[in-house]
Order: sequence, then structure tokens, then C-alpha cells
Amino acid sequence: MSFPIIRHRRLRGSSAIRNLIRETQLHVHDLVHPMFVIYGSGIKREIPSMPGVYQYSLDRLDEELREVAELGIQAVLLFGLPEHKDETGTGAYEEEGIIQQATRRIKQLYPDLLVIADTCLCEYTSHGHCGVVHHIGGRAEIDNDPSLELLARTAVSQAKAGADIIAPSNMMDGYVQAIRTALDAQGFEHVPIMAYSVKYASAFYGPFRDAAQSAPQFGDRKTYQMDPANLREALREAESDVREGADFLMVKPALAYLDVIRALKENFDLPLVAYNVSAEYSMVKAAAQNGWIDERGIVMEMLIGMKRAGADIILTYFAKDAARWLKE
Ligand code: PBG
Repeated sequence: MSFPIIRHRRLRGSSAIRNLIRETQLHVHDLVHPMFVIYGSGIKREIPSMPGVYQYSLDRLDEELREVAELGIQAVLLFGLPEHKDETGTGAYEEEGIIQQATRRIKQLYPDLLVIADTCLCEYTSHGHCGVVHHIGGRAEIDNDPSLELLARTAVSQAKAGADIIAPSNMMDGYVQAIRTALDAQGFEHVPIMAYSVKYASAFYGPFRDAAQSAPQFGDRKTYQMDPANLREALREAESDVREGADFLMVKPALAYLDVIRALKENFDLPLVAYNVSAEYSMVKAAAQNGWIDERGIVMEMLIGMKRAGADIILTYFAKDAARWLKE
């Protein structure tokens, strides 16, 4: 009878030895908590497709922020719902825009909390696209270069309001350079850019578009967001963002794109961010509410998988849950 020469199980025998040899750690500092801010007062409205995620009016933000701070989460990502939408997304770059007001308020209440401002037009445009629309003949095009001007204005107004990090999610070409140049020209050369470098045209954003009321009113985002079938193109997207001055690179969504996270980790040295997007959250919540899965086990396994793949930072709607579980 022959015995195994190699015994992997020696290193699995107790919780202590498993802790000793664990290769990947998840820390509360890795987590960023996304928030949706809305005009009005007294509002805390749950998003039906994202149980546990709320839209808050400015006067009720503090409830959420206190919890976030107590859990040790250091950063929030802000999305705004404007009062009115128009063709050019004015609400994105006005001084009294919702993100600008929310940023000022948060920095007043919690100066040490990092405010990351999502820089895009889709929540603010009447057509729901991430750039301006140009009609050529019967066809509507998302016009790249005029969009850059508005996105740069948006980033500057967010920085003026006190945003610590600018996170452009619009997927226009040249967006990092345009935003970097505008920030530098206005005295915000110290404000980093977290580039949504590799953002796929994904069905996993469905619940977010309910939350942010940002679904495109015609067509889709496939002329600017990436084809889920492509990996080498992801390297080209990241490469151009690095050259244009990005300080962080992001891959979005996360779960179906762990190979892309790994590829960026191997090819670039910038801090790497994974966005665990809305449908990745909603699927787990729905199954958990049905009693079909162990939510905590599933969530922690997903998050550790993103880190193992190469993510340094995770934007996730599970941030508060994960922070709580990490403390226990
Ligand atoms: C805005 C933006 C989107 C998300 C983040 N920023 C939506 C989109 O591109 O349609 C999606 C986030 C999520 O699904 O959680 N451009």
C-alpha cells in the first residue's frame, strides 16, 4: 500500500494554522462605500432592487455617515440625483449641484472621511448618456470631445467643493488627460484621479440605473463602454489612462472579470480598484432573502476572490456588512 508523499492537509488542521498561512487578507481600509444623494428633505428611500441601499437627502446623510465612520470605513463614493435633467447635464457641474452640496456637507461633518466623486453625466442628462448627444442625419452619436469639456468642468466643480478623489466613469477617450489638465489649471494638482479605466457595457449595472435614474433613454452604451468579450483591449484602455496621468486604475464589474483584474495587476503598478457593482449585490441579496444561500459566507468569499485576483481596493454596496463581519 502506498501513502501520499505530499500532504497538503498538514497546513489546514486548525484555525490557527490556517490563519498563519493565509495568503490574502481583506481589511476594512480596502472598502469604499457608495452612496446616492438626492434633493429634498427628510428622505431615506430604499432602492427596491437593492435592499439595504438608500437614497438620502442632504439633511439625513449624517445617519449613514456616522455608521460608516463607526465601522472604520474611510471612503465613500458619491452619486447624485439632480433636481432637473437637461441635454448637457448641467446638474453635474453647477456650484449648487447635489454632489457639490453633499461633498461640502460631508467634509464639514467628517473632515477625515475621503470623498470620492463619481464624474459622469448620465445621471444629469435627459437622454441618460454619459456624454453629450450629437444628431447626425437620423442617427444620434455620443460626441466625445465636447463631452470632455463638460466632464472636466464637473471634475473641477467637485474638487472645488472639497472632493478628495475624482472618479470619472464616463469612458470617453482622453478623459483622464482632459480632467487632469483642468484640475491642474485650477490649482487642484494634488487631487488624484481614480480612472474607471476598464468599464464594460454590462447588464450588471441594471439596479444602479434604478438607484441613480440613469438608464439611457435610447440605444445603449456599447459605443463607449467595452465589449465583455475583450481582454487585450482592456490593457490598451489602462495603458492610455496611465499615460494620461491616472492615479488609480479600475475594473468594472468585478465578478465576471477577475481575469481582467489579474491582467491589470500583472501589467501596471498603480493601485487597482475593483467595482463590485449593483447586480452583483442584488443577486446575493435576493438569494439570501429567499434563504437559498449563506449571505455572509458568499459575500466574504466574493470579496476575498477580488483581492486574490489583484484588487487593492473594492467599491462595494456590501462595505458596511463586510466591515461589521470583519470586526466580529
Ligand atoms: C455612471 C455609472 C454607472 C455605474 C457607476 N457609474 C452606470 C452605468 O455606466 O450605466 C454602475 C454602478 C453599479 O452598477 O453599481 N456612468
